[in-house]
Amino acid sequence: MNASTLKDRVASASVAADRATPASEADAPPYFQARDLHAYYGESYIVQGVGFAMREGEILALLGRNGAGKTSTLRTIARLADPQLTQGEVWLAGQPLHRMKAYQAARLGVGLVPEDRRIIQGLTVQQNLQLAQIAKPVGWSIEQIYELFPRLGERKTQEGTTLSGGEQQMLAIGRALARDVKLLLLDEPYEGLAPVIVQEIERTLEKVRALGMTTIIVEQNAIAALTLADRAVILDMGEVVFDGSAREVLDNADLRHEYLAV
Ligand SMILES: Nc1ncnc2c1ncn2[C@@H]1O[C@H](COP(=O)(O)OP(=O)(O)OP(=O)(O)O)[C@@H](O)[C@H]1O
Ligand SMILES: [Mg+2]
Repeated sequence: MNASTLKDRVASASVAADRATPASEADAPPYFQARDLHAYYGESYIVQGVGFAMREGEILALLGRNGAGKTSTLRTIARLADPQLTQGEVWLAGQPLHRMKAYQAARLGVGLVPEDRRIIQGLTVQQNLQLAQIAKPVGWSIEQIYELFPRLGERKTQEGTTLSGGEQQMLAIGRALARDVKLLLLDEPYEGLAPVIVQEIERTLEKVRALGMTTIIVEQNAIAALTLADRAVILDMGEVVFDGSAREVLDNADLRHEYLAV
């Protein structure tokens, strides 16, 4: 997919969001839906009936304390082997991800940016991006990614693993966008980064948002995630304890104290 088709998709998505939803559309299946997910690491029952739905172009902050099951939920959605999904459904743009393996979900447009970023050793920045484009369908061109992240363009011949933490995060996000992503899953994109770098990544994610990318962001920095997001889902002990607007969580200190410790 090229940028113009992405932009067309964004334009039609925002037009759709602006007008009142007629009854027939209200019944239409959501763009993304996780339904009653149950998943295990071996015998450990971790994801305990998680479910939520998203409209196309929405940004959802998936929050909760350490160990609440956020990473496990993202991994389940991306169909990684661990934790193992034993019950429930995952739908993206009408496709049943729950029947697929990770590589098939990736091909259909699930782009997981894991916490450890997984920059490939021995490859330059540019080669890391090119490698992402080996599997079709391709998303953004490498030039477009350098436009979004000028720092990556300046360092395109540098080995990826020698980038700073913030630059590695940019490369990890860029690599996801290099593929035809329909659902971007970001696991703690601000982790371990200095405040000034967090701001830089935030500005980039604002641009990604403007392009209408449907995104789930997991963050310990709940305020930053809620500022970016439209919606919030809070997990506690592997279950959804809140599903509402990001604004509601920002305005509700009690809720934040109870489940987020902020
Ligand atoms: N590979 C694994 N095997 C067994 N248990 C695991 C495994 N990975 C995670 N867990 C457990 O699953 C629970 C949820 O972990 P998860 O990583 O999903 O939490 P999280 O919400 O992402 O936490 P954090 O904010 O610390 O990243 C924790 O109790 C954790 O110990
Ligand atoms: Mg985690």
